[in-house]
Amino acid sequence: MCGIVGYIGEQEAYPILLEGLKKLEYRGYDSAGVALLSREGLKIIKAKGEIAALEKKVGQRFPDGNTGIGHTRWATHGVPSDSNAHPHCACTEDFTVVHNGIIENYLALRLWLEEKGHHFSSETDTEVLAHLVEHYYNGDLLKTVQEAMKSVEGSFAMVAMCQSETDKLVCARKDSPLIIGVGEGENFIASDVPAIISHTRKIYILEDGEFAVVTSSSVDIFTAEDTLIKKEIREITWDAVAAEKAGYQHFMLKEIMEQPQALRETMRGRLLNGGREINLAELYLTSEEMNDISKIYIVACGTAYHAGLVGKYVMEKILRLPVDVDLASEFRYRDPLLDEKTMVIVISQSGETADTLAALRLARSRGNKVLAITNVVGSSVAREADRAFFTWAGPEIAVASTKAFLTQLLSLYLLTLYLAKARGALDEDSFECAGKALFDLPAKVEAILSREQEIEEIAGYVSKWGSTFFVGRNLDFAVAMEGALKLKEISYIHAEAYASGELKHGTLALIVEGIPVIALLTQKAVLEKSMSNIKEVKARSGYVICFAQEGAEGLQNEVDHIFYLPATEDFLTPILSVVPLQLLAYYTAVARCCSVDKPRNLAKSVTVE
Ligand code: G6P
Repeated sequence: MCGIVGYIGEQEAYPILLEGLKKLEYRGYDSAGVALLSREGLKIIKAKGEIAALEKKVGQRFPDGNTGIGHTRWATHGVPSDSNAHPHCACTEDFTVVHNGIIENYLALRLWLEEKGHHFSSETDTEVLAHLVEHYYNGDLLKTVQEAMKSVEGSFAMVAMCQSETDKLVCARKDSPLIIGVGEGENFIASDVPAIISHTRKIYILEDGEFAVVTSSSVDIFTAEDTLIKKEIREITWDAVAAEKAGYQHFMLKEIMEQPQALRETMRGRLLNGGREINLAELYLTSEEMNDISKIYIVACGTAYHAGLVGKYVMEKILRLPVDVDLASEFRYRDPLLDEKTMVIVISQSGETADTLAALRLARSRGNKVLAITNVVGSSVAREADRAFFTWAGPEIAVASTKAFLTQLLSLYLLTLYLAKARGALDEDSFECAGKALFDLPAKVEAILSREQEIEEIAGYVSKWGSTFFVGRNLDFAVAMEGALKLKEISYIHAEAYASGELKHGTLALIVEGIPVIALLTQKAVLEKSMSNIKEVKARSGYVICFAQEGAEGLQNEVDHIFYLPATEDFLTPILSVVPLQLLAYYTAVARCCSVDKPRNLAKSVTVE
């Protein structure tokens, strides 16, 4: 996820681009850059780090020019650096592009272009776009971009600028957002509304497969086959603050709602052919390495640790390998049992958590290879691990982790199925069935999100209590722990997670009339056992709010409130069942007027012990 801005009109472009980039910094801040068409030709300025670093580099005398493009980067291909910063040029400075997304076949395209004599100066996937445009250029920038994009696989929102057609910007979109702001004698391009809302409230939303030619006085939108599209201008009614959150009241809700898309990004290029194939060649694991593993050790903190707990159940069940999960702050002082056949996996959204980093270093110092599941390219964890598996959730701003968790789970599932295939742990049919079920999950998450009002009503009840319990068995217990963490960290309500079978060993003493008990009952194999525990709670007049899969009908008569989740394979339910728990925490915190995105005493990334 990166941020793109474009301007063409009569004003000086640089201040407009800079202001727009600052509004898009939430989309990433590994580096920033601008390219301007001035009377003296093209000027490009880029700097590693936040937008402030670019501003400092530019200094008091900013470059002139009435047309320009800008970019704030969230690194995917290539570490954060000046040379990997956008805008990117081709061999000459005739063509400049900015891009948000991932070009999946960039390596093949790069080799092909290199054979044709193109020289590359960055490690990014984006640079191939500039060279492709240069390669195909036929005097018409729109037609050239249309032609170039035919060979590109993956996701992109891009803007191209050309020194021999200075009166226009050309942009294109597939699977990454792009809007065009319509002004008077000037027009704007951006990844998101906040970048341009101080200039115009009239926008076109570019859809997948659409291309646009933007001049200072016109916006023309075309299909890939060059048919002109008639589109309606939309009027933005949000205020500037709401616009940064895409109209949502909080980043947390925005991020919860982004989860279907985040899951699709994690799957992209990895889960193929409707789920029938998995390709994780990016991990460079040989079949010998995969077959040699005798134990897996997962280490993480907070929400990432809960993803690890799910991973343990799933990996042990499918791979029939022992899996240990440890909190990084414990692991690093434990003298853990690792041998040369132990695969160590660290999970960290930020890639900067001090304890997780220390655990990674400890494992490496013992001679173990470490695989990192992380969301941030160029983070310390990503750089120091032997292999990195990126979750591609996009920047997560709210302190309470949501979309990162879902993509961590999906990453663990993908890894498990990949290892299962290599080790012959699953037969063809079971593999296909699991892959297809995985592939269907984003749509099921969408279906749950569309019922947020039901959860808001439950939150109304929960918000009046000072204490709650979350219970479940097996995978449901792992999700119960995450649900409890979400509720306590943002609503400040005491929430404890228990394995359902443990209630009778002490906790039942705390069950009083009406106290909310959130029960997860998604696992068919232990449904009846869990039901007995629910009855124990009901017998003490607890208020049971139950989450179960469709098909487990009849439960509604036993509990106070039931929310049926779309049915899936039992081992995949965590990706679905945690979503209403995130919404429950969110709406409970809102009902209690808590600071949702920045809860007291907490930090997004904990870089101290
Ligand atoms: C902090 C955050 C949590 C997060 C944990 C681990 O406590 O508030 O949301 O789960 O750190 O962070 P990491 O970036 O390593 O996943």
